[in-house]
Amino acid sequence: MRSTPVSLSVPLGPAARVRRSIAGVLPAPVTDRIRTMRGHRPPRVVALEDLDAELEEAARLFTVSEDAAREYLRGLTMAVPQGHPEDPFSKEYEAWVWDLYHRVSGRPEYSIENEASPFNLDEAVAAPYPYSTGSTAVVGEELVARGFIISTLGLAPPARVVEFGSGWGNLTNDLAQMGFEMTAVEVEERFCALTERRSRQPERLHVVHSGMLEFEPEAPFDAAIFYESFHHCADHMAMLDKLTRVVGPGGRVLWAGEPIQPLGYPWGLRLDGYSLWSTRTHGWLELGFDENYFARALERTGWRGRRTRLPSGSALADVIVGER
Ligand SMILES: C[S@@+](CC[C@H](N)C(=O)[O-])C[C@H]1O[C@@H](n2cnc3c(N)ncnc32)[C@H](O)[C@@H]1O
Repeated sequence: MRSTPVSLSVPLGPAARVRRSIAGVLPAPVTDRIRTMRGHRPPRVVALEDLDAELEEAARLFTVSEDAAREYLRGLTMAVPQGHPEDPFSKEYEAWVWDLYHRVSGRPEYSIENEASPFNLDEAVAAPYPYSTGSTAVVGEELVARGFIISTLGLAPPARVVEFGSGWGNLTNDLAQMGFEMTAVEVEERFCALTERRSRQPERLHVVHSGMLEFEPEAPFDAAIFYESFHHCADHMAMLDKLTRVVGPGGRVLWAGEPIQPLGYPWGLRLDGYSLWSTRTHGWLELGFDENYFARALERTGWRGRRTRLPSGSALADVIVGER
């Protein structure tokens, strides 16, 4: 097994390194220590049997304010599970990840139907996420991130771009409005309908109701984008492989706002409060990938990745650009 750590990142200056440490790029114990020095308490470690009571409180807070609920969830975590199989590309390792998913989600099976998002379509047409949160912090971060992602695309309209897991349709519709020929691949039917209803360029928008692994392109794209969606994929190695056929020669892939961060294990379920809430409440698959592991996974499937981030430390303004 390879022992030299692989990095995707361009080295940062000292000031940016300190800011980045708060964003979770350093190992969790170091980040916790810096946060404690700055007056933030490290998150409480919650046992699985106490999780439901904690999440009930989070659910109550979501009815009060998005900021209050997120702040509460930032204060929770579960202990890093020990004893994972050594080879992160092995079947045993995969089984270890699924076992933890079943326990945390409380669901004996994972199916793509678990990725359903309950919301009211008419209300979402009027005020989609992030505007619906009413949180200046959430909306501000999302708009900065989306601008940053667009600035890293490195293509001009009318290039053909596919967005996987396009959700509320914000990025897809931004790009269609710029003149890109957009395909949005989304597993949740309501999100598909929402993206179409919000579109001002229906002639440049093709919405496909499908899982990302099941999607078969009619012709290769110039670029593929994942924005907080790749980590929901039930077989990320198969998806990386598939991308070599989804984008054409010279094409690129953007992994934006994906949780490529220190976890305490190469890849697996994320155990921060917000991810625990998502997994337990909805059954969503909330994976994370250590940067070294992700770089090796890219290498195995023929991709070269370069990571670029805003020095603000936002986890969303963070893009890995992959090329063949
Ligand atoms: C965290 S959301 C991000 C949404 C989107 N990037 C946005 O900004 O609105 C993840 C999205 O991926 C979708 N998704 C999850 N698993 C998927 C799959 N296997 N194939 C396609 N879409 C999927 C979800 O329905 C959801 O819309």
